[in-house]
Amino acid sequence: MYKERDISINFLGRNLDSPFILSASPSTDEVEMVANALREGWAGAILKTTSISGQQVYLKNPMMSSFGTMSKKVFGLGNIDLISKYHIEEIEERVKYLKKEFPHKLIGASIMGSKKEDWQTLASRLRKAGADIIECSFSCPQGSMGEEPGKMLAQSVEATEKVTAWVKEAADKTPVLIKITPQVTDIVEVAKAVKRGGADGITASNTIPSLLSINIKTLEPYPTIFGEGSYSGLSGFAIKPITLRTIAEIAKNVDITISGNGGAYSWRDAVEFMSVGATNVQFCTLPMHYGFRVIRDLKSGLMHYLEEQGFTSPSDIVGKALSHIKSQEELKNPETHSQIDTERCIGCGLCYIACRDGGHTAIKWNEDERRPKVDEDKCTGCAMCMQVCPVSVIKMEEKLNSEIYYYTEER
Ligand SMILES: Cc1cc2nc3c(=O)[nH]c(=O)nc-3n(C[C@H](O)[C@H](O)[C@H](O)COP(=O)(O)O)c2cc1C
Repeated sequence: MYKERDISINFLGRNLDSPFILSASPSTDEVEMVANALREGWAGAILKTTSISGQQVYLKNPMMSSFGTMSKKVFGLGNIDLISKYHIEEIEERVKYLKKEFPHKLIGASIMGSKKEDWQTLASRLRKAGADIIECSFSCPQGSMGEEPGKMLAQSVEATEKVTAWVKEAADKTPVLIKITPQVTDIVEVAKAVKRGGADGITASNTIPSLLSINIKTLEPYPTIFGEGSYSGLSGFAIKPITLRTIAEIAKNVDITISGNGGAYSWRDAVEFMSVGATNVQFCTLPMHYGFRVIRDLKSGLMHYLEEQGFTSPSDIVGKALSHIKSQEELKNPETHSQIDTERCIGCGLCYIACRDGGHTAIKWNEDERRPKVDEDKCTGCAMCMQVCPVSVIKMEEKLNSEIYYYTEER
């Protein structure tokens, strides 16, 4: 049992009981599932993207495929899902019901339209229904119903600003979040367009357009439907580093609230997202994989972290890591080289091979002792040897870069 402490945070004018909410996904496509999640302890949910009445949604199954490792089966999840089959008239009823049942939780809804009238109809109906937040999907990778077919709305700076302004006009005082894609040349320009359009925040970001894999015997892509497949949206842990950069770049350059989303698989990942500027964190693949109960671990992990670090509130974390992120030119270039703890070394030779064929041929191999030896004159301190050492016994001198980022089941 963990020590309870207050982990509430203000997000766009609403007090959330924790920074953790469900993102628009299959988990938020049925009202009872959302109710279960909120009872389990999630601070809120964004209902799966809805559209105007009569909009055709061509869902194809099977829609999921994944890639993984022996120990981590769902390292990345690909889907060819689209928006919800439920239209606005159903979603506004759900918003009213959920707001009544869970007045203290954040009830948001996601929308997607193809023209001004659609976007504004969706936004104003949700506002009248009492939604706490309206999130706009400008980044569905399966082709948006936006400006140009096949192109995500958020890939156009002009369209982003224009459609944001339409939605904000109709949403009025209800906060608007724009869900963007990291797949652009300049994320900062897109974020600035969102701000100029008048949105209250950015959801950074979404799934990443991908092609999950090809069966090399049948040459069929995954997920396969009668031998054919399509491009999918990649989610889950595999995309976390992309999200981290996206949030950081926006936070460093644009003064706007950020909701972090894409690849968070633990409370630690959430803390990282917040440390580079996210005020809260949305989860999709994690609860789809392990169930709504993961919220207990997310909350207890955050509580312990705050205690250990001496922070009083989750808001203390927001943006704290940004001052450590510099451009390449700004970084110092220290003199360092690797130090191998030969007592703990298992003699596998991986560091020697990596340095010989991918480094600076600075690690020699002592055949008699079956141990590596660093030639300090040749070693530049690139740290490639550290990355491949299976037992983590290589460090950089001066305590530089002395920790490798590991993701293990125990984290
Ligand atoms: C099967 C599936 C369906 C999704 N449907 C939507 C959707 O309707 N609208 C939306 O904005 N995002 C949708 N998403 C994207 C998620 O909300 C989220 O942005 C993405 O999965 C990245 O977060 P994660 O790595 O925590 O899963 C969907 C994701 C998955 C896996």
